[in-house]
Amino acid sequence: MSELVLLKLGGSVITDKTQPFTARTGVIEQLAREIKNALDERCGELQLIIGHGSGSFGHEVAARYQTHRGAVGPDSWPGFAEVAAVAAELNHLVMKILRQTGIPAIKFQPSASTRTRGEQLMYFETHPIKEVLQHGLVPVIYGDVSVDANQGMSIVSTEKLFDNLARELSPSRIVLVGQVDGVYDQDPRQHPEAELIPDIDRSNWGEIEARLGGSHGVDVTGGMFTKVREMYRLTLAMPPMQALIISAKPGNVEAVLKGQMVDFGTVIN
Ligand code: IPE
Repeated sequence: MSELVLLKLGGSVITDKTQPFTARTGVIEQLAREIKNALDERCGELQLIIGHGSGSFGHEVAARYQTHRGAVGPDSWPGFAEVAAVAAELNHLVMKILRQTGIPAIKFQPSASTRTRGEQLMYFETHPIKEVLQHGLVPVIYGDVSVDANQGMSIVSTEKLFDNLARELSPSRIVLVGQVDGVYDQDPRQHPEAELIPDIDRSNWGEIEARLGGSHGVDVTGGMFTKVREMYRLTLAMPPMQALIISAKPGNVEAVLKGQMVDFGTVIN
């Protein structure tokens, strides 16, 4: 049976978030190979939209210009262009690797087709994405700047774009690939005793919401907690869609995309 999966390669995975403008080329190549293997094995049965974060490219520059807070000063618009440029630079690198690996990837620059209002994504032109998907291509989007109806400009995260695409396309799964193995009850980098939460659903959400912290490094789109909360709300609105949060450990992405039963990561239902 054919399924649509939205796959996000997190900025914390494809870049070193503690080092400005540092892409993890080797990791991107490994992920591209795993994606390619899964597409080959499920030939025609797996439809995929890839999104990727901006990590130490966009977040760094957006924090400098406060792009997420809007047009706040004389540097804001030049800053808007600069954030867009570095986000696109990382996208160029990702695209090059995906295509060299043999994935029929085609990029869609979000800032050319979105409009936000504060936290909300008001408009996102998705028709071309849906069209190319029908012809076996793999659309690629990424966290980017967006013009904003209230504050002039904003930042639009991959999760926001996925939220919109999910409501239109009803994928069976959204897979977020991050730096850690899933959602923990506390930050595993600071607390080695932290425990992975295998499932998040109505029964434990309240408790988890109260405990979750932010992510490492500079992050203008709310860190791990915001992303998990967005996914929880989306899965509530779109049953039976699931969101899966996993790490980029070799083999993880391939197993998940191949539809294998896996015993790692956190499933949000
Ligand atoms: C952030 O996008 C976009 C910019 C800062 C330009 P995301 O929220 O999707 O990226 P990561 O995964 O946190 O890096």
